[in-house]
Amino acid sequence: MSRKKRIRQILWIIVAVVMLVLTGCSDKKEPEDKVLRVGVVTYTSDDPFINALADELKENLKSMETKDMKIMVSIKNGDDDQQDQDEIVEEMIDAGCDVLCVNLVDRTAPSRIIRLAKQNDIPVLFFNREPVWEDLTQWEDLYYVGCDAEQSGIMQGETAAEYICSHPEVDRNQDGKIQYVLLEGEAGHQDAISRTDYSVKTLIEQGIHLEKLSYQFADWNRGQAENRMNRLISQYEDSIELIISNNDEMALGAVAAYQKAGYEQDKWPVIFGIDGLDDALEAVKSGKMQGTVYNDKEDQAMQMAKLAVEVFKGEDTNRKQLKAGRYYVSQYQQVDSSNVDEFFKR
Ligand code: BGC
Ligand code: CA
Repeated sequence: MSRKKRIRQILWIIVAVVMLVLTGCSDKKEPEDKVLRVGVVTYTSDDPFINALADELKENLKSMETKDMKIMVSIKNGDDDQQDQDEIVEEMIDAGCDVLCVNLVDRTAPSRIIRLAKQNDIPVLFFNREPVWEDLTQWEDLYYVGCDAEQSGIMQGETAAEYICSHPEVDRNQDGKIQYVLLEGEAGHQDAISRTDYSVKTLIEQGIHLEKLSYQFADWNRGQAENRMNRLISQYEDSIELIISNNDEMALGAVAAYQKAGYEQDKWPVIFGIDGLDDALEAVKSGKMQGTVYNDKEDQAMQMAKLAVEVFKGEDTNRKQLKAGRYYVSQYQQVDSSNVDEFFKR
């Protein structure tokens, strides 16, 4: 055998071995393990509704793991500062996150987050703090999961009107008007604006004569609402007959203020909140609050988890159902003493 022929033979053997190894590998190869990394960023660490929603989201995502897909969830917060939140988002993207769930600090300032997400092709599910339409439509992989705030305002107004109509003693001074205080969440928040507007409108439409004593911003926060109410109680003593609160935490702040001021419960106003968190459900059950509106965090968290998995896999079963291809609108439910038991431990 010539030297040339031998070299050719050896080369053929090498090619054959390489081919065998390659095809052998691909035949036996296990499907590559997929990891879905979800980055969740809330606006603060200090909001019980948001914390409950984020915990629920994490649990749902974890329950969607399969043997082919591990799901890693990292939850951080923006410490009430949009710039801090932008930086956290950037860090999450650098760390390899696949889908972002963002609860904006400032719902009018998502531009940097949107730009980063688009550049890196990371879908974003905004939740609870709604970007305006012009921002949400800047890129096709932006979504919003939340509620229709107007609905919660109407339901709160209806629940309060129904209670007041069937309890004439709410008008403690019997002047035919209900003296009221409104506790507002946060200037510029879509939920605060619509809840305030529609609960008052609905009460009036239902024939309740209202007299406004004071509107107070308390940032969704129990402690702040308690402080505001302390001042109002010193000013108005027992003449406040109704408190309408944009959320339960602030309603519970009002409850605490009356308790600490030492008023007997028959001198308290009737108090209505929104969210249906456990403390508020307890308060409705024990008669410290008269009603709330259930803000369905379980439903919102489930939708977000499903959407996160779907956008990652490039599927669109749930996406197809979204309003305008982008919005999931969860339904609120009225809660008062007649149905409160149904809402514990959802
Ligand atoms: C909830 C509030 C919460 C706020 C935060 C609202 O939908 O009702 O309890 O503080 O969202 O953005
Ligand atoms: Ca009155």
